[in-house]
This record gives sequence, C-alpha cells and structure tokens, in this order.
Amino acid sequence: MYIEEWFCSPIASFQNENFDLTDHCLKIKDENPMDNHAKMWIHNPYNSLSLIRQENGYNAIYDPKFFKLNQWVQKCVNEFSEECGYQKMGLINMWFNVYEKGDSQEFHNHGESHFSCVYYAKAEENDSNIIFNRSPWPMMHYNIVKSNRLNFNQVRYKPVMGSLLVFKSDTMHMVEKKVTDDIRISFSFNFVELARIAKSPPNSRNNITTINQRNS
Ligand SMILES: [Fe+2]
Repeated sequence: MYIEEWFCSPIASFQNENFDLTDHCLKIKDENPMDNHAKMWIHNPYNSLSLIRQENGYNAIYDPKFFKLNQWVQKCVNEFSEECGYQKMGLINMWFNVYEKGDSQEFHNHGESHFSCVYYAKAEENDSNIIFNRSPWPMMHYNIVKSNRLNFNQVRYKPVMGSLLVFKSDTMHMVEKKVTDDIRISFSFNFVELARIAKSPPNSRNNITTINQRNS
C-alpha cells in the first residue's frame, strides 16, 4: 500500500520574544473603545480592527511600534510560502486582540486571504488555547483505533508568549474561553499573493479589511 497525503493543512511555528508590545496595545485599547458594531462575537475580545472604520480611525498596520514585528512576520511568511511552494505574499491587514477573563472566539476562518498568522505578545501559563479543525469537519464521526497523522481532526496550540503560528487562511480555528485573570494579547495578520495586491485598485485593500473585521 502506498498512501499519499493530499490536501494538508500546514501550520508553521516560529518564536521571537524580542517585542515588548503590551503597554502600547493597552494604551490604544484605553484610548479607543470598540464600537458596538464590532461586538459580533459571543464573548467578544477587544479587537483593534474595528477601529479602522471610525473616522480617522486607528489602523495597526500603519503603527510604527509594530513595524519590526511586521518585518519579522513577513520573513516567517516568506519561509512558509516557499516551503509550501507558493508565491510571495504581502500583508494586507493586521490587528491585535486583548482577551480578558470570559472572552473567546468561535470557529471562523479568514476567507479573503491566502495565509493568516497569530502572534502571542502576552500569554500566561494556562491561557486559552487556539484550536484548529480539519476543514471541512467530518460528517460521520470516526472512532480512532490508533492516533496518527492521517486521522487528526483537531489540533490545539497553547499560546506561548513570543510564538507565531502561520497557516492557510481557510483553516477553521477558534479560541477557547479565557478562564485566567491576566490579559492575553494576540496579533492577527492576513497575507495575499503580492501579484494580487499589485493588481487591486487602491480601495479594494480597504474593502478586504472591512470584510475581515470579524476575524481574530
Ligand atoms: Fe482568526
């Protein structure tokens, strides 16, 4: 027997703790409350993406405090994309989430991009995991006799401070409900092929940003 592993859902991990972003994120959060339209999650974390729609609203992608982080994330995405055999990708939007006790995010994907990333700027030991599901979820339950790489339906990652996960944007994921007292700060990034960005009229980049407002 020869088994091919088709249609895989790769998730890459990187590590870099050299970014001190907590105070800046909390300052932005304090100065820019989230509007009601952005509160579309069941247990809504603070999401800086919602600020873009406000007049002269804050957009994290232009924040110089995040430039070094973005440069490093771009390098990681380049490596991932090359390994997967895809073209170079460019960042189209990014934001940060501040989770407090009780916050979570239900299953979703980032449909208007090719690659997505999450970077953990602040997380404690028993913080809420991110969960990735096989997509689509099996219609019939499989009873697993022996666990191996051919039968995983779900994988959970602990949010380790300084870690970056890179995955294909159509991979379904969610964040468990936070039960610890300290805050958890994650950054989200969406990338699309550079060639596609170049062909887009200027406003289409903003449209993509708006469509993705509900993503983590
Ligand atoms: Fe997400």
